[in-house]
Amino acid sequence: MKVSIIGAGYVGLVTGACLARMGNDVLLVESDCGRAEAVRCSKASFYEEGLDELLASVELEADEDCRRIRDSQLIFICVGTPCNHDGEMVLEQVAAAARDISEVLRQRDDYCVVVVKSTVPPGTTEETVIPVLEHSGRKAGRDFGVCMAPEFLREGKAVYDFMNPMRLVIGEYDTRSGNTLLELFRDFKTPVVRSNLRTAEMIKLAANVFLATKISYINEIGNICKKLNIDTYEVARGLAYDDRIGGQFLNAGLGFGGSCLPKDLRALIASARQYGYQPHILEEVQRLNKSQALKPLELLARHIRLNGATVGLLGLAFKPETDDIRDSRAIAITAALLNEGAAVKAYDPMAVENFKKLFPQVAYTTAGDVLESDAVIIVTEWPEFNNLDYGGRIVIDGRRVEKARVARIYEGVCW
Ligand code: UDX
Repeated sequence: MKVSIIGAGYVGLVTGACLARMGNDVLLVESDCGRAEAVRCSKASFYEEGLDELLASVELEADEDCRRIRDSQLIFICVGTPCNHDGEMVLEQVAAAARDISEVLRQRDDYCVVVVKSTVPPGTTEETVIPVLEHSGRKAGRDFGVCMAPEFLREGKAVYDFMNPMRLVIGEYDTRSGNTLLELFRDFKTPVVRSNLRTAEMIKLAANVFLATKISYINEIGNICKKLNIDTYEVARGLAYDDRIGGQFLNAGLGFGGSCLPKDLRALIASARQYGYQPHILEEVQRLNKSQALKPLELLARHIRLNGATVGLLGLAFKPETDDIRDSRAIAITAALLNEGAAVKAYDPMAVENFKKLFPQVAYTTAGDVLESDAVIIVTEWPEFNNLDYGGRIVIDGRRVEKARVARIYEGVCW
């Protein structure tokens, strides 16, 4: 099929590359010249496992201008929806993409489907996107179709997740819109959930917020376990066999970061409040996640005086296999350590360049040198941290790195 994608960021580029791999004719529209040029050179502007190889194996077209989408059967909106200070998602880029598409719709007389893929608050496609598209003089349902198809890609596993989805969620304006989009995924053997537009928008937020809740839940159990001298990971093992609970997302520790879980949680809280509902559980999930990042300092203070000490951080990325530091626990930990008068040394296999921009005063060094600090905090569970020699050290482990247990003084955050 002929497909256009507005926005060559994380979701747009992965979607474009995978759809091209499936044999579709894909055009990426990206107003940032640097990003558009990167696509033309088959390069990703961020690290994602398998993406560079995939880009090298497909033909992807990129353009800064929207006009070339005029012969696309499907037009995806994959632009960013950052949060403002109140946690609300800013929909400017979504509205701008809809305006650009509307200009093109005005010139067309054939049927196409506009698909919102950006994560947006429930109601956005109906209340913001469709009215802008209809400025073209053409009517949703009659002249063009509209779908909302959220993505559930994990960073670091995005290509795999796209090709092997656990389910497809298709929010549709009408059956014809949904059928046209489903044609693109006809070879996928996965459950399909069809719904109206705002339900699909809510499914995406509810999924991420559920995962966030599960993590804060196990962290709360973990904080209690720590006081009772119980190993939370053994407790989780006992929970996992209950299908109603499931074994994933029960790794207690420093809590969640990244580009999605914290932002989607903030956005759902903001939406609920806007509609006059106080989301108590979600607010508590957020509060607990904030305080969880600082647990290592509490534990460290039992063993050393922070003021004047050198504390080493192993890991800066929000999770392993990525260079992404958005909402990484390392940010809150570093800020708090510096605030306490400690000096900070750090090592991460991929995220140092990004972290340097936020904290130039940190000494970036090797893992071996980080171990020479007065105490070490494990922030990200990079597999290579299981091969270090922790003997004789003081280690606060935020991510359950088994090898670290041999340390002279070892404290797990929730175990
Ligand atoms: C998440 C969702 O998993 C994905 O479906 C969605 O599309 C985007 O958001 P991602 O942000 O890439 O993906 O990372 P994920 O693997 O979900 O981890 C998020 C955070 O939770 C990380 O900081 C991770 O360290 C933390 N986490 C995860 C835990 O603290 N404990 C766990 O058991 C699992």
